[in-house]
Amino acid sequence: MRTQVAIIGAGPAGSLLSLLLKRHGIDSVVIERQTKDYVLERIRAGILEWTSVEILRAAGLGQRLDVEGHVHNSVKLAWRAEEMLSVDFERLAGKPMMAYGQTKVQQDLYAAAEAEGVSIIYGATDVDIHDVTSDRPWITFTANGESERLDCDYVAGCDGQHGISRTAIPTSITTEYERAYPFGWLGILSETPPLPHLLYANHERGFALCSERNPMLSRYYVQCPLDDSVEDWSDDRFWSELLTRLPKSEADAIVTGPSIEKSIAPLRSYVLEPMQYGRLFLAGDAAHIVPPTGAKGLNLAISDVHYLSEAFAAAYNGSANKLAAYSTTALARVWGSVRFSWWLTVLLHRFPDQSPFEQRAREEDLNYLAGSEAAQTSFAEQYVGLNL
Ligand code: APR
Ligand code: PHB
Repeated sequence: MRTQVAIIGAGPAGSLLSLLLKRHGIDSVVIERQTKDYVLERIRAGILEWTSVEILRAAGLGQRLDVEGHVHNSVKLAWRAEEMLSVDFERLAGKPMMAYGQTKVQQDLYAAAEAEGVSIIYGATDVDIHDVTSDRPWITFTANGESERLDCDYVAGCDGQHGISRTAIPTSITTEYERAYPFGWLGILSETPPLPHLLYANHERGFALCSERNPMLSRYYVQCPLDDSVEDWSDDRFWSELLTRLPKSEADAIVTGPSIEKSIAPLRSYVLEPMQYGRLFLAGDAAHIVPPTGAKGLNLAISDVHYLSEAFAAAYNGSANKLAAYSTTALARVWGSVRFSWWLTVLLHRFPDQSPFEQRAREEDLNYLAGSEAAQTSFAEQYVGLNL
């Protein structure tokens, strides 16, 4: 087989990249390890920066999100179980954000890929990348029991945090930046009406977050010890802990119900530099991971492939400058979101080894945020997404 861009991974990064390339008349083949249903069943992020909304709309992928997406002009922050702050995005940052589940983004991307004849090969195993420092790289993989070879001009590594494309860059030229957090997030889905706004809570017992997927599907999280398992958390224990960590006015507004999904995710910050090597270009979780606190993972995948698709288009039109600068361009935005996600995670969580001083100092950070329009503006413009 032959194509112009071979894409490894059909998550948000890989599947959106294939569609953006098609908009530029560039041919690609996406090679995905899992089945389509497996990818669609993953419960992941739920927030789109306005920049992401605009990228999806510009690519003709905004029809459903413009109907089912829930635009939010603010989020609430709570601390000490009774203090509360609402940060007004429109007034402070000039744009809102949108609650729209990654599952729906993925459904929309796969529907468009099918409608437009984009080639996605599911169930591919033994994927390997060859000759990325030549001008004719190629990929090998097994699909339907057959060994396959895909010749291409470029390779896009969109295979997430457990992918292989990152390993094709020699460690002699890479730098890894990493921080693991000493706690996890226990998340549930419940078929109950969500709060009218997103609510982030710092509590001395730990972080809590109230979010949504649709008017009858709520998404809630509580910080939990890393060694906890889902079995340690009955629905009753979850609801009791969540309501304890929220201000009473908010807790009283929560409609509880049976969980239809319950999972624990660890929190990690990770950046690999550079994000390119020869004719291999990394995008999304393949190159960086953020703790979910700032809801940046999906949005960084989208901005990476926006830059990468523009760089490939320029290269095929005779100008290789954007492609040569891709890693630098993408990392500028990646580090902005990585820093914000780290800062917000430290601000809102209870660290096991912290002293009462750290907890009280964090609460003072929130008091300062509540009293400073400058601080709220800084928070707002980073939360809704800095301009590309
Ligand atoms: N060969 C082929 N496909 C692979 C391989 C491999 N060796 N390894 C991983 N994959 C696939 C995975 O099955 C997955 O579908 O690559 C895809 C990577 O998708 P994501 O992990 O969703 O990463 P990305 O597309 O960058 O999107 C980032 O998704 O994981 C969330 O929180 C993250 O919201 C963020 C977004
Ligand atoms: C979610 O809805 O899953 C969500 C929302 C906001 C976050 C993280 C996760 O910061």
